[in-house]
Amino acid sequence: MNEIDKLERKEKLSYKELDNIFTGYLNNKIDDDEMTKVLKLICKNGLSNEETINLTDIFIKSGETFPMNISFVDKHSTGGVGDKTTLIVLPILASLGVRISKMSGKALGYTGGTIDKLNSIGVKTDLSKKEFYDAIDKTNMVISSQTADLCPMDKKVYALRDVTGTTKSIPLIAASIMSKKIASGAGKILIDIKVGKGALIENKKQAMELASLMIEIGKKYDRRVICMLTRMDNPLGDNIGNKLEIEEVIDVLKNKKQGNLRTLTIEMATIMYTLNKNVSKERAKSMVEHVLDNGSAYKKFEEYVKLQGGSFEKIDADCTEITSLKSGYIKSINSRIIGETSMLLGAGRVKKNSKINYDAGVVLIKNIGDKVKKGEVICRLYGKSIDYNSIYKAFHISKIKPIKKNIIMKIID
Ligand code: URA
Repeated sequence: MNEIDKLERKEKLSYKELDNIFTGYLNNKIDDDEMTKVLKLICKNGLSNEETINLTDIFIKSGETFPMNISFVDKHSTGGVGDKTTLIVLPILASLGVRISKMSGKALGYTGGTIDKLNSIGVKTDLSKKEFYDAIDKTNMVISSQTADLCPMDKKVYALRDVTGTTKSIPLIAASIMSKKIASGAGKILIDIKVGKGALIENKKQAMELASLMIEIGKKYDRRVICMLTRMDNPLGDNIGNKLEIEEVIDVLKNKKQGNLRTLTIEMATIMYTLNKNVSKERAKSMVEHVLDNGSAYKKFEEYVKLQGGSFEKIDADCTEITSLKSGYIKSINSRIIGETSMLLGAGRVKKNSKINYDAGVVLIKNIGDKVKKGEVICRLYGKSIDYNSIYKAFHISKIKPIKKNIIMKIID
């Protein structure tokens, strides 16, 4: 194909040429192997900002679009290990009277997906338009999988990227995220760019590049985009794996848990509330904390799960306890190793159509800054029996107590 040859020669592609490739893939005129070649070339050589903006537009136009609604505030995360923030932020906002909807994705690589987490407790996420609006009317909130009609091209490309090692491309991430947000009509968009070893974006420089690209795309479509850069060197929270993460969501919503996950969700909900209601950040923050304190955010989550046919049952999987090989303080926990271990245990898809074991995953018993003695349990593994020797490499134990870093690195408005 002429366009692929051009990509190989690192030449710029016109709108029409990009459209030929991507629409060709959507219409099955280009097969997975050829498309993988395209994605690998984009990962290697990048795209110009103009090409990325064009690609975003092609993704948007591949399906249904909703008119821009200035009061529709949406959030999206580039994906990380243990990232369950959507499941906490939405009930908080819904319990504060904000009508909020979110289209979410399935797991990508070793990072989890909100849809898989909800499906793990039987919550329906493939909603018809009627079910979508009924849920909003009844509970103020709704989380649905990306519909077949919204950016179908991104859906197909995303699934291929997941299994071909082509997830870590700034232009592909920007086009994928922004197309979905713009097509769904969001007027204000909060993007959580995860930065670190367990994230698609590994350093602050790349994160700033992605942020400015997404803000630029947003401007083209008159959308306000706020980017948060947040640390993902260590997993977010203690639980990794679908049902296990729901357990932790419930703990935060019931106000039983402090730490990074709570800090981050409070900040996100605060920003989203100020965008929606035009109140000061201080006022928004105290309202957000109030609905966690008084249990109304938890009640909202429960109400939503029930409405969508879900219920929570205890984890039912074999458990292996991993004990520390030495004494000291937990200095860091490599999220990538934890994410990959969780995937191997059965919590993620190793191939495009692999079946997930919803009960599988990892629970960190000791987290950053905790003191640990040799022989003490540092984590529990749930799921398939695997060779778990690599998990030891995830824990960096030092003699000196580490200084805790703020989970939020930067907010770009
Ligand atoms: N989330 C998306 O929707 N797309 C990406 O490419 C990465 C994270």
